[in-house]
Amino acid sequence: MELSSVLWCVVLLGMTLAYGITLYGVHAAKRHEVASHGRRMIVSCTLVGIWLVAYLTKQMFFGRDQFGGTSQEYWTLYVPVLAVHTSLAITTIGLGLTNMTIGLRRLRYGIGAGAMVAGVTRHRVLGRWMQWTFGGTILTAYVVYGMLFHWFPAQ
Ligand code: HEM
Repeated sequence: MELSSVLWCVVLLGMTLAYGITLYGVHAAKRHEVASHGRRMIVSCTLVGIWLVAYLTKQMFFGRDQFGGTSQEYWTLYVPVLAVHTSLAITTIGLGLTNMTIGLRRLRYGIGAGAMVAGVTRHRVLGRWMQWTFGGTILTAYVVYGMLFHWFPAQ
């Protein structure tokens, strides 16, 4: 197995783990366990942060991975999936950062009486959206990995 393929596997498993922790954190929020919800979200966001730094470093030093299919397959399959994947990833990062900020700044001590003022409604809505965009990001990442290393590997 090539080094870049091994690295991709590590990254995918790390992201899947971060997603699992996010779902576990949302489960805690549904049970109103604010402290463990906050801790789990901080752990999953830290994992995503580490991934981002590693990914940007890898892009800077090694460049993009090569797609081995035909030009038609590149434009009709690879580029659309990559575009959806990138959009979902950017949306997830934006939603995650916004929600982490709301959580840490306003909800750290629970929702109490001023729940609306504290922004918990917005936090819940954005958080629920984030679960889906994060899930879509992981799913499309597996498809991109499959295309680069299994279905259309570069020679
Ligand atoms: C990226 C980070 C975060 C995400 C994606 C997120 C997501 C969510 C979601 C989806 C819910 C609603 C759960 C439901 O009722 O279905 C929620 C509720 C909540 N979150 Fe977060 N959250 C994050 C970070 C935090 C942090 C750091 C804190 C503060 C320590 C926090 C405090 C709360 C509180 C107080 C609630 C309401 C819980 C209740 O109903 O009693 N969140 N969050």
